[in-house]
Amino acid sequence: MSTHISVPPQLLLERILTLEIVRVTERAAVSAARLRGHGQEKAADQAAVDAMRRELNKLPIEGTVVIGEGERDEAPMLFIGEKVGLNAGPQVDIAVDPLEGTTLCAKNMPGAIATMAMADGGTLLHAPDVYMEKIAIGPGYAKNVIELDASPADNIQRLAKAKGVPASAITALVLDRPRHADIIASIRSTGAAVRLITDGDVAGVIHTTNPDETGVDIYMGTGGAPEGVLAAAALRCIGGQMQCRLILDSEEKRERAHKMGITDPKMIYGIEDMARGDCLFAATGVTTGSLLTGVKFKKDTIETETVVMRSVTGTVRYIKAEHRQLEKFHLD
Ligand code: FBP
Repeated sequence: MSTHISVPPQLLLERILTLEIVRVTERAAVSAARLRGHGQEKAADQAAVDAMRRELNKLPIEGTVVIGEGERDEAPMLFIGEKVGLNAGPQVDIAVDPLEGTTLCAKNMPGAIATMAMADGGTLLHAPDVYMEKIAIGPGYAKNVIELDASPADNIQRLAKAKGVPASAITALVLDRPRHADIIASIRSTGAAVRLITDGDVAGVIHTTNPDETGVDIYMGTGGAPEGVLAAAALRCIGGQMQCRLILDSEEKRERAHKMGITDPKMIYGIEDMARGDCLFAATGVTTGSLLTGVKFKKDTIETETVVMRSVTGTVRYIKAEHRQLEKFHLD
């Protein structure tokens, strides 16, 4: 006699899928990690995409990719609008960055991750793959301590005051790009320190949520919009503040954004504008960084480390996994 147990869709999204999305980022990370240090950015990204797509299609969801590898014509897989899952279960929005830090992986440098977020259908910002201005801090501060349109120096002073420390005790994380020269100079003018990263601003934003451990108080600068939405999903779970604005500096970009429902090209997005509903976020380390340990290939096991969070409870779990059925991974 078989017993049919039906699981309420909300319970699925809130709890059961939490472990499922860990499997997805684990597989993507392992596939990408096989190409660590091979200097092949595209191949590593494709391996992560293929693995992530395969795993997503095993999930009991009606998923739509809203943040993906690009818009339909440019991306063979996990393009924006692609349907994923078993077409049964809750309707969910999916944001993916199967390999965040393709260069980090290709050069075997710290901080590459495989990451995704899942949220109630229609609640994640549908953003084109353009640049985005971003500023973020972790939880525990009064609202509006930071403002995207204030100068970097102002934001540092306001944050220092809110934290009860001198500006010289604040560290800002910034992507090391020529376009950030003014931001960096403005931050340094206050006496605050700048930590530069070569890539990986999803993890960069997450660093602000635990300054005692990471030494990072604030993230500032321009990075990818997809990475911005993923980081917002993470902060939706842990807490914190973030303000972002898409850089739609051509008619073509405004048109693409418009097609995705963005009517105000200058809008400043807060966390809730980018991740409105309940959401889950997961990231698995590809190369070892200050957020996660990278994939370890051992004789009889493959080890991964994943952080997974859900907004309903704000629980953040670090899951270290030892995978023994290696033949499954050899399919990757
Ligand atoms: P990729 O993995 O797509 O290469 O992105 C890495 C990254 O550093 C992101 O974290 C960041 O948002 C973006 O690139 C910045 O873009 P750019 O390298 O063009 O300055």
